[in-house]
Amino acid sequence: MTREEALNSVKANVENENLIKHMLAAEAIMRALARCLGEDEGEWGLAGLLHDIDAELTQGNMHTHSKLGADLARELGANEAVVHAILSHNEAHGIPRETKLDEALFCVDPLTGLITAAALVRPDKKLASLEAKSVVKKFKQKSFATGVNRQQITRCNEIGIEFDQFIELGLMAMQTIAADLGL
Ligand SMILES: [Fe+2]
Repeated sequence: MTREEALNSVKANVENENLIKHMLAAEAIMRALARCLGEDEGEWGLAGLLHDIDAELTQGNMHTHSKLGADLARELGANEAVVHAILSHNEAHGIPRETKLDEALFCVDPLTGLITAAALVRPDKKLASLEAKSVVKKFKQKSFATGVNRQQITRCNEIGIEFDQFIELGLMAMQTIAADLGL
């Protein structure tokens, strides 16, 4: 499966533009992480791009979310490493995260929302002028973007990435696709 085929499938299964942008952002950060860690950029990016492909189809049911997504990813031709990362990113299944790829997807998932929210409160609502230290400040402000799971973000330690470095890498990755994100 090419990256374009994967994206087309995401768009065929997801109507909500923000959800598509969330997956594009996750893809960009996963690719940047893979580059940083010497892992397979294409594989890690694909996990990010496909991880919530079933989010609308499963209509918020956490017991089917990511199981259907894993099936869809497999049908598209994703390998078992990607399929397992998608399955284990939803803790409702009790499927343990076993690989660096699994852990990476888990901690990247909430980071896109934090960075997006931090950009949207800026006067220009743009990522370009957002600094990593502002994102860190927003992270520490508990009343900000309360839906963002802070603890999950700090799991970046599990893949050998320091928190500050993770925020910076995530921000830079999202900045490179700012136009696609409309930010
Ligand atoms: Fe997600």
